Amino acid sequence: MNRSSIHDPACLAAYNRSMASSGGTRSPESLESLRARALGELKAAAGDGLEAWRTEYLGRRGSVTQVLRSISSVAVQDRARFGAAANALRNELEAAFEARAAAGGSRPAGLPDRIDVTLPGRRPLKGRLHPTTRTIRDIAAAFGAMGFQVIEGPEVEYDYYNFSALNIPHDHPARDMWDTLWIDQPAGHDGPGDRSKGGQQVLLRTDTSSVQTRILLRTHTSPMQARVMETTRPPIRVIVPGRCYRYEATDATHEWHFHQVEGLAVAEGITFADLKGTLYEFARRVFGVDRKVRFRCDYFPFVEPGVDMAIDWKGQWLEVMGAGMVHPKVLAGAGVDPEKYTGFAFGMGVERVAMLRHGIDDIRLFAGNDLRFLSQF
Ligand code: PHE
Repeated sequence: MNRSSIHDPACLAAYNRSMASSGGTRSPESLESLRARALGELKAAAGDGLEAWRTEYLGRRGSVTQVLRSISSVAVQDRARFGAAANALRNELEAAFEARAAAGGSRPAGLPDRIDVTLPGRRPLKGRLHPTTRTIRDIAAAFGAMGFQVIEGPEVEYDYYNFSALNIPHDHPARDMWDTLWIDQPAGHDGPGDRSKGGQQVLLRTDTSSVQTRILLRTHTSPMQARVMETTRPPIRVIVPGRCYRYEATDATHEWHFHQVEGLAVAEGITFADLKGTLYEFARRVFGVDRKVRFRCDYFPFVEPGVDMAIDWKGQWLEVMGAGMVHPKVLAGAGVDPEKYTGFAFGMGVERVAMLRHGIDDIRLFAGNDLRFLSQF
């Protein structure tokens, strides 16, 4: 068969006329471009694609079959040449298909021969809880079992709650214990004691000079001691996990932002023995039954007496929290009668606890966002 007949202009013209007049959904396509397209696709076809190709071009409704059927609509003088060209194309494509099928329809170079569906899949990367979050949850579970409620407080805080309500007056040298990040006061803001602006009324039981209403990033979670006592009648048993900020140079054991868990228990007849018993139980639950605990005298203006608690770690003592009996001035300042009620408070560093439990030697790893560190938990 003379294949060159498909290049015959008369033949193509007839074919194109027939396609145009048939009103088919396909745009007219010359036999030549149909041939190029079919052979191009055949080259890339493999496996099931090979059979799909055959259906598409040579099947009962395939493109080439349709071309052959359209012969009746070709002008009489063009029919013979058109028919010959279309037949030639069909024969050529059939031969090409047989050849490709015989070759096993192997894939073009660069693609795998076949897909092994029995191979195990690739595991999608799953996120997990940050070690700080997990530690807070474990601490909360330990205190939850002892009847403590979990509450949260503002990270942007008034000078009053962060210092003054905790028996740390303005200009008192004790403020030097917490290097503070101050926040610019919004214009016209008069602070928590301001009723006239319709804002939330919070009781400031000491003086309400402008010094009290300055705003800062809380340096510890202790401001919640006064906030809770102002709004809750004893008995109180709460813990307050949250982020704190200090204007400090960072090193392996200091970060400028970190987490604390505050604790507060206020009721009639609470003693220092309750404080020790509660914190021993906490240490037992979070660090294990064998872990040794040490209490030492320490100074915090809002407790009396005050202690720090340390945990034995590799033959050393590591401080994890400050604690003590709530100072009568703090109770009174928040509207709790110190003649009737007593209480204890504590504040622990969450990252410190996590470092102790997992043997982490640099606190900066917690906020470093390094997956090599984070994926170990
Ligand atoms: N807030 C103290 C600190 O950050 C810790 C503390 C809390 C001490 C409660 C005593 C009682 O250092």
